[in-house]
Amino acid sequence: MTGRTDGRERPRRVEPPASFVETANVTSEVREAFEREGHEAWRRAADLLEWSSPHETVLDREAESLTWFAGGQLNAAYNCVDRHLAERKNSVAIRWEGADGETRVYTYLDLYNEVNAAAAALRGLGVGEDDVVTLFMPGIPELPITMLACARLGALHNVVFAGYSADELRARLERTGSGYLVTCDGYYRRGSAVNQKNKADNARTSVEHPVETVVVPRLDDPYLSEGQHDYEDLVDAHAGDRVDPVERAAEDPLFVTYTSGTTGEPDRVTHTTGGYLSHVAWTSHAVLDIEPRDTYWCAADVAWITGHSYIVYGPLALGATTMLYEGAPDDPERDRVWELVDRNRVDVFYTASTAVRSFMKHGAEHPSAHDLSSLRLLGSVGEPMDARAWEWYYESVGGEECAVVDTWWQTETGGILVSTLPGVDRAKPGSAGPAIPGVEVDVVDAGGESVARGEPGHLAVTAPWPGMHRGLTEAAAAEGEDWAYVTSDRAILDHEGYVTFLGREDDTVTVGDTDYGPATIERVVLEVEGVAEAAVVESHQEGGRAVVYVCTERGVEGDAALTERIDHHVAERLGEDTQFARIVVAPDLPKTHSGKIMRRLLSAVADGESYGDTSALRNPEAVGELETVSGDGD
Ligand code: PRX
Repeated sequence: MTGRTDGRERPRRVEPPASFVETANVTSEVREAFEREGHEAWRRAADLLEWSSPHETVLDREAESLTWFAGGQLNAAYNCVDRHLAERKNSVAIRWEGADGETRVYTYLDLYNEVNAAAAALRGLGVGEDDVVTLFMPGIPELPITMLACARLGALHNVVFAGYSADELRARLERTGSGYLVTCDGYYRRGSAVNQKNKADNARTSVEHPVETVVVPRLDDPYLSEGQHDYEDLVDAHAGDRVDPVERAAEDPLFVTYTSGTTGEPDRVTHTTGGYLSHVAWTSHAVLDIEPRDTYWCAADVAWITGHSYIVYGPLALGATTMLYEGAPDDPERDRVWELVDRNRVDVFYTASTAVRSFMKHGAEHPSAHDLSSLRLLGSVGEPMDARAWEWYYESVGGEECAVVDTWWQTETGGILVSTLPGVDRAKPGSAGPAIPGVEVDVVDAGGESVARGEPGHLAVTAPWPGMHRGLTEAAAAEGEDWAYVTSDRAILDHEGYVTFLGREDDTVTVGDTDYGPATIERVVLEVEGVAEAAVVESHQEGGRAVVYVCTERGVEGDAALTERIDHHVAERLGEDTQFARIVVAPDLPKTHSGKIMRRLLSAVADGESYGDTSALRNPEAVGELETVSGDGD
């Protein structure tokens, strides 16, 4: 191990690897340019795209709501597909690995043909500009293809996570007034076929308005209900058709989606064509360092915003090869992810920080059994990353030769806002990094006033950025001159402008007289040797005291000695009054499909309360295991 930060003294700093710096897409000149030029510098992002009409202004602050790239016109599918044909038609656009071992490869020319045929088929069903098309599929190629087909037509896609229930789908069809649904008959998960069409049918028949439905045959015995269309038949009938990409104004919507809602009701979010696409292309280039020749893998679900921005739009806008994986990261074996990186010679790998901690739990022998020398950059997203997980990723996956970026952003922000620039900035393990060039952040108190550097508060983004969702523009702009978007994330800003994330406001845990972001305590628990994952929640039953759930690294006993070590370390680091009501050692922690620990569910389990529907969990079996473990502990 290369030496660990103890979190109190000067944290370790890691210089970007020299080999990385030599070829990095951006240099310190970019930061200087943004400092010099202000928001005008964002034209660099727009310049990564091809516009049918150029923009007249970069940012119009006079407009009723902020407007990015006003006057500009473009089509997102044209940018992600057509414009690469001249130089890259035989390069691979999508490399797909199915859960059942099936693989498919689409060159940019194949993708062009598929997207045109799908767009022609959808148009044939009546889909036109600004219609909402709901997509209810797992990570199969037809999902990005239909997303791009919608974009080609100027229609808005509304992708619903395939694991959601019929009721969730019905709510999203209703809330968007969507008259079109593309789904599949089923898919494979951990070796079994999962039926999807029954859920889709139940949802479709319970909405008031008619829903034209297309079914992708993924299983062996496809069947259709009356009036439904078979995707393959439709697309075959339109093979060779060409659909002109519909010109969209920069501010025209590209898609709708919903916030992931680990806490309250999901909110609808709309992203724009020009600002959003510029932002995700730019951050794919500047932060993830993607180059057209790269094979890039973002191991997320396409239905999540991470999948939209960094599986589909960002990498395809740059003309790279994007990998799409349908299965689970540990199926059939725990080294599945590394086997895929090795076999596909992946250059850039992006995953959830909770996934990194799960990999750490399973042990370094899995990555070390494979040749991972193709990797150049490793990225993390979704939850705070503690220093130990960072070091493990850097060392056991990256062999200390990859740049590692911890990227912070949200569904609402469209793309990355906080991260080190991998070829420019030193990393401080445990801290995400500074705001990217062009983005300004501050940490403020409940009244919106800046707090002192080093003090916790709410992260506020204090200047607009192109990928911002438009509801947010209106809400924040309404506050007048001092534009600020105050997030519900707790954070600390250090004297170098690096942000350390402490978790979400809704998950705050009170210990003694102090309110902690869960990550503050979890970070300390994760410093204990042998602890791979940790989640801290408040328990009402325990008088508001905190309960901590931990998973151990492979080969480490979750015994009384471990819980004593945790108690001791936490008291030493956070003070004697930081005592947990209980420490529960569990085999796994429940996580959403987007890799977030379901703390709400954990506090319900801690209090013996009902926790409702678990269908949106990536690992619902973890809940049953928890109940047994928690029960034992009482
Ligand atoms: O709490 C932050 C956490 O994830 C939230 C956004 O989640 P979602 O809208 O589902 O977007 C997922 C795509 C990023 C944030 O409010 N979060 C995300 N990235 C990080 C993070 N927390 C700490 N560090 C991160 N790198």
